[in-house]
Amino acid sequence: MAFTIAIDGPAAAGKGTLSKAVAAHFAYAHLDTGLLYRAVGRRMLDGVDPLEAATSLLAEDLDADDLRTPDVAQAASRVAVIPEVRAALVDFQRAFARRDGGAVLDGRDIGTVICPDAEAKLFVTASAEVRAERRFRELLDRGLETTFETVLADVRERDARDMDRVAAPLLPAEDAVQIDTSGMSIDDAVAAAIAAVTEKGATQ
Ligand code: DC
Repeated sequence: MAFTIAIDGPAAAGKGTLSKAVAAHFAYAHLDTGLLYRAVGRRMLDGVDPLEAATSLLAEDLDADDLRTPDVAQAASRVAVIPEVRAALVDFQRAFARRDGGAVLDGRDIGTVICPDAEAKLFVTASAEVRAERRFRELLDRGLETTFETVLADVRERDARDMDRVAAPLLPAEDAVQIDTSGMSIDDAVAAAIAAVTEKGATQ
């Protein structure tokens, strides 16, 4: 049985946390599609042509730790505007989405472009300040030196690039359930996401 849950939204809105919790709840597989763009961005920073990196990417292991840094996030957002890079990553994401046993994919264009027929779609948002505050704390916890202002500027720059690009811009699908996590605890946001997906017919 295939059942696709698409979870989209801007940087640091809580998509990762919600996607993992939803996938665990329903025992579905989870793909963080941002990691694909981060891996291509990481290789661009190393001097590799982004399209070449995208076409050869899937043969490689994605080393998540190396990919969760602000520099790599910016590079990911830059390679993500290139239509050919996006096109090279489509088949892998669609195959993952239709695997047996159910799948959760989180990203920017899952409900609009990658899986327009997904059985359940969520669009997770929070104010830029709240998202920057969360990302700031996460980076500090990991021992990275930065300031709140730097992180906020970074979030705003990525928002603008992700929303204004021509190829698969960040925007909610018409049939997406929107969840604003600004004033919510993690537990409440997870409960809201699971309730919305259950309503769409997902079963454990
Ligand atoms: O979700 P993330 O912060 O790891 O994503 C990093 C960048 O990758 C993001 O700024 C835009 C791009 N991205 C995308 O264009 N489409 C996706 N489905 C996922 C990420």
